[in-house]
This record gives sequence, C-alpha cells and structure tokens, in this order.
Amino acid sequence: MIDPVLPALACPHCDGPLTRTDGTLGCPQGHRFDLARQGYVSLLGRRSRTDTGDSAEMVTARDAFLAAGHYRPTADAVTALCPADAQVLLEVGAGTGWYLAAVLAARPGAVGIALDASVRAARRAASASPAIGSVVADAWSRLPVADGAVDVALSIFAPRDAAELSRVLRPDGRLIVVTPAPAHLAELIGPLGMLTVDAGKDAKLAASLAGEFVADGSTDVRSPLRLDRDDLRRLVLMGPSARHVDRESLDRTLAAGPDVTVATLAVTVSRWRRR
Ligand SMILES: C[S@@+](CC[C@H](N)C(=O)[O-])C[C@H]1O[C@@H](n2cnc3c(N)ncnc32)[C@H](O)[C@@H]1O
Ligand SMILES: [Zn+2]
Repeated sequence: MIDPVLPALACPHCDGPLTRTDGTLGCPQGHRFDLARQGYVSLLGRRSRTDTGDSAEMVTARDAFLAAGHYRPTADAVTALCPADAQVLLEVGAGTGWYLAAVLAARPGAVGIALDASVRAARRAASASPAIGSVVADAWSRLPVADGAVDVALSIFAPRDAAELSRVLRPDGRLIVVTPAPAHLAELIGPLGMLTVDAGKDAKLAASLAGEFVADGSTDVRSPLRLDRDDLRRLVLMGPSARHVDRESLDRTLAAGPDVTVATLAVTVSRWRRR
C-alpha cells in the first residue's frame, strides 16, 4: 500500500512532498504520478534509466526460487541486523519484495518502500506485503525519497549509490548490504555457465561506501542448499546469467545432471552507519 510510505517519498522532479488524490500522487508544483492498478507507482525523474531492470522472465524465476525458502537464512540474518526500532525501511533493487516483506513481518507497525527499476518486479513487490509501498525508480539517479526519512536501507544483491543512501537515511540510520562471498554457489558456476563472483567484492564494497558510511557489524551466512532441476533453472534465469545463457543447452545440462544438486549459500550481510 502506497499511503503508509507517502510521507517518506518525494517528487522525482522537484523533491516536493507527495499526497494522494484517488489514484494519483501529486506534489505542490503540480507534477502528477498515476498509481498503477496493481498498486505500484512510477517515480522516474528525467535522468532515470530503467534498462538494467529485470525482465518478466527473471522476476518470475526469482519469485518461485525465493518462495521455496532456499535463501531464508539470508533473510533471517538481515532481520537480525535490522534495529528493532526501525519504522521506515527502504530496499533499493528490491526485486519481488521478498526480503523486505520478511523483515517487515518481524517488525509489526513498520513500513517499507520497495524500489526497483523493473516494472515487473514493482508489480510483484506491491503484493508481497500490505506494509510495502512499491515504487519504480532508478537507484543510480536521485532517489524519490525525502532527506532523512528512512531508518534502515537495504541493498541485497542490488545497486547502491552511497551518497543517495546516506541522504535518505536519518542521521543514526543504518544501511544493510548483502553481497555474495567467493564460495557462493561455486559448485554451480562451471556446470551451469553462471557468472562468477568477483573475489574482491568485499574490498570494493568497503571502498564504495567508505566516503559516507562506517562499518557497524556483519554476519557471514553459510548454508547448504539442496536444489532440484526446477530450482537450478530458476536460479540461473533469475540473475545476470539469464542475459547470456542459451536456454536449450541449459535444459540439456539439467536433464543430464542429478535429481538433486547440493550447493553452498555463502553471503556476507554487512551493516553500516552514516559517518
Ligand atoms: C539480483 S536482483 C536482487 C533483487 C532482490 N534484492 C533479491 O535479492 O531478491 C537485482 C535487482 O535490481 C534491480 N535493478 C537493476 N538496476 C537497477 C537500477 N538502476 N535501479 C533500481 N533497481 C535496479 C533489478 O530489476 C533487480 O530486481
Ligand atoms: Zn514536483
């Protein structure tokens, strides 16, 4: 529902506050944004880009994979690092809203903005939880979010602009970031032709946040995954590998493989506070 998060949103053209009249959001300067029938709103500025947003196929695959619960340990670690008094959350690159809904389920009364460049993802996130307001926006340009309006920002396998996240967080707000560790899905990368995890990721993350944030704790999540062929297919098609993997050869590889494949979930959940 968009209403509970409206006070935290801002007009993408003039930064003004947004109010709702029937199915339209508007700012005092007269900029108008229609609420989609499915419950999300597009708050794209003139420089916003949406071409890196996930396709319908990727969103469908992600939705089914996450619903099977394989990444539950990651969601639990994010929830554990999220301060108990957080009232307004923002997830950039929120995808289907699965993680945000999981955190909100453990924080009754809190609300969350799910922000994503993909209309398909935003449509799905709008129905992930009644506490979610779903917004189509570009995480690499100015966020349509008011200064200091957010208690906790999440970036889970997603783009993050340190300066913008710092701007929208309240002074003692927290940023929680999930990044893959080198062992993440390592068993699958060769056989399934998935993209490899960049081993220098942690150092790059710290460098990209260092100007605005200070490290404030982290959890390494390690868990075995038991994946059947449907899980594997979804895993490949929900991520960046979907853009280059040949579907027929993927299906041949899966058919020739075992009924169940064991792989490793290995991610780092890090928490950061504003400088
Ligand atoms: C790997 S998915 C992660 C989704 C979700 N956080 C999860 O873990 O299930 C990356 C997400 O970032 C979104 N995305 C890509 N470029 C973006 C941009 N410039 N602004 C906002 N979202 C973007 C994609 O549409 C996709 O939903
Ligand atoms: Zn405006």
